[in-house]
Amino acid sequence: MSENHPRPSTGKPKVVVVSGGTDGMGRAVALARARLGDEVVVLGSNPEKGQRLVAEAEQAGARGRVHVVRADLSSIAENRRVIREIAARHERVDALCLFANRQSPQRVVTPEGLERTFALYYVSRYVLGHGLAPLLARSASPVIVNVAGVGTTAGGIRWDDLRLERSYSTVAAQLQAGRANDLLGVAFAARPDNPVRYVLYHPGFTRSGDLTPLPWAARVALRTAAALAARPVADAVAPVLELVDDPPTAALTAIDRGRRLPLTLRTLDPADADRLAAVTRALVAAAEGSGHEADSPGDGSGAADTAPDVPDTTAPARWLGGQLGEITAPGSTPAS
Ligand SMILES: NC(=O)c1ccc[n+]([C@@H]2O[C@H](COP(=O)([O-])OP(=O)(O)OC[C@H]3O[C@@H](n4cnc5c(N)ncnc54)[C@H](OP(=O)(O)O)[C@@H]3O)[C@@H](O)[C@H]2O)c1
Repeated sequence: MSENHPRPSTGKPKVVVVSGGTDGMGRAVALARARLGDEVVVLGSNPEKGQRLVAEAEQAGARGRVHVVRADLSSIAENRRVIREIAARHERVDALCLFANRQSPQRVVTPEGLERTFALYYVSRYVLGHGLAPLLARSASPVIVNVAGVGTTAGGIRWDDLRLERSYSTVAAQLQAGRANDLLGVAFAARPDNPVRYVLYHPGFTRSGDLTPLPWAARVALRTAAALAARPVADAVAPVLELVDDPPTAALTAIDRGRRLPLTLRTLDPADADRLAAVTRALVAAAEGSGHEADSPGDGSGAADTAPDVPDTTAPARWLGGQLGEITAPGSTPAS
């Protein structure tokens, strides 16, 4: 299968929501599903990218099937607005594909009091998944595909410093949010009477990703490495397109490229998943309530505050090392 020639869909058109669908892998999924006849709701923050996507969908014969909702998904309030807009337009959602992410070389705290990478890469996925669960439950075969880094065992949740106030790096923030997404899948799939299949999918090092937030040298290094070692976007998203058509029967599935991972992987620990779910409920409640007291209080100004740290210039190189190292993620077994 390729991005330009997706296999014909067999069933009736689906309603597919793609967070981070204006660029990279999410964009490829959005276009491919629209070409197959699905109604696609794309979430992204950049209006020009959204307009270009709609125009390309029209040229590809999918006029009117891509609807872009502009939103800054690092904001919980924006995620809530997006959920309301989707509920107003659609009586059901068949698939939620989660791609939105952006690297942040500096530590930034959102106006809701969360470290921005954690907010965008993890909390948004938590809020969208739970918020759209009632619409997903109306589908005959609902699925959430969370595209992150399952199979990677590096990094972890800083339980006593979720906002990474004591030490911040781009890599630590990405790894923390990635591990949080692994635990999100475990907790979501374990909900009682949950009809939604949850898939954690690691695409591997792929020729996508907005490098503009990174320093020049890191961008050059990453582009060079990507030209040599990264997968084409079409290859990376092919399993996602199939998962939308044909969700697994198991409540939770973890896939690292073509390999199905054992759910005994230590990053999928059910006790950690319960713990993070409880912490996240409290964080979201605090952010939506009186302010951001759930973690440490910040300056309380309500404005995004950037830590005074110097930019972490070593982070991109370590991020690159992490990406290449992930090509042989430990603890995985071949797909059945
Ligand atoms: N590329 C890789 O090698 C690789 C490897 C392993 C895992 N992954 C994971 O795969 C996923 C997709 O990666 P990708 O390479 O396709 O990324 P990408 O090309 O950088 O696309 C990221 C998407 O996220 C959206 N986004 C960023 N900030 C946002 C915000 N504040 N609000 C709303 N949307 C926002 C972007 O849209 P706007 O610009 O419109 O905001 C864009 O559509 C990510 O979770 C990534 O961690 C990637």
